[in-house]
Amino acid sequence: MRFILFFLVLAVNVFSTESPTYLNLRDYLTKNKVRVTEGSISGPEETWLVQFLKKHPNFTSIAEIGFNVGYSAEIFLKHCPKAKVVSFDIGKHEYLKDGKKYLDMTYPDRLSLVFGDSKKTVNKYANQNKGEKFNFIFIDGSHEYLTAYLDIKNMKKFARKNTYVMIDDLQLLKVRDAYNRCCKEGILTNCKVYKMGWRSWAIGKYHFR
Ligand SMILES: C[S@@+](CC[C@H](N)C(=O)[O-])C[C@H]1O[C@@H](n2cnc3c(N)ncnc32)[C@H](O)[C@@H]1O
Repeated sequence: MRFILFFLVLAVNVFSTESPTYLNLRDYLTKNKVRVTEGSISGPEETWLVQFLKKHPNFTSIAEIGFNVGYSAEIFLKHCPKAKVVSFDIGKHEYLKDGKKYLDMTYPDRLSLVFGDSKKTVNKYANQNKGEKFNFIFIDGSHEYLTAYLDIKNMKKFARKNTYVMIDDLQLLKVRDAYNRCCKEGILTNCKVYKMGWRSWAIGKYHFR
């Protein structure tokens, strides 16, 4: 009897047409042998961000620059169950589509990807979606000075007074300079800089008169 049962279970597993289930994006990428080359949010910064999002369960809209394979987007979709996410990315990595596929399967109709250079696409999107505002803005795109500066500056179009803006990768000199310029020019206000391990980021608000 046990012998028959064993083969029955084996047959169900072998011939099952159900698609495999995955624990999370990382598990999906590992099982599908997708190799990711660019870094993403992780470790203490990820833990900090999750805690921050848990304190704001009513976020309904999040915008980010820098999708990469979607790890930060997954954090937003998972921990802000009411939120839609709009992510801007230049699309330089082929694996972006794998991440997008998994997130669309797992969190249907909640993620939009806007392809292209953020120096152009952010303004274009804002013009095409007049008045669209977000609760949380996450800036984690180019590490070049001018692009990082324009990313911070242009994303203000999506902010209200109470919108939080987080700028990642302040451990990188060019990004830090871009952030400092935005503080000096009064684009940002009430910012707090965090440093954990080798990573650093800032969170604050946009300045409105
Ligand atoms: C550090 S990765 C983002 C990591 C992601 N936020 C995460 O934590 O999972 C930076 C991303 O910015 C994108 N990027 C670089 N320059 C860009 C630009 N000018 N416009 C839009 N995206 C850009 C890259 O394609 C890359 O996917």
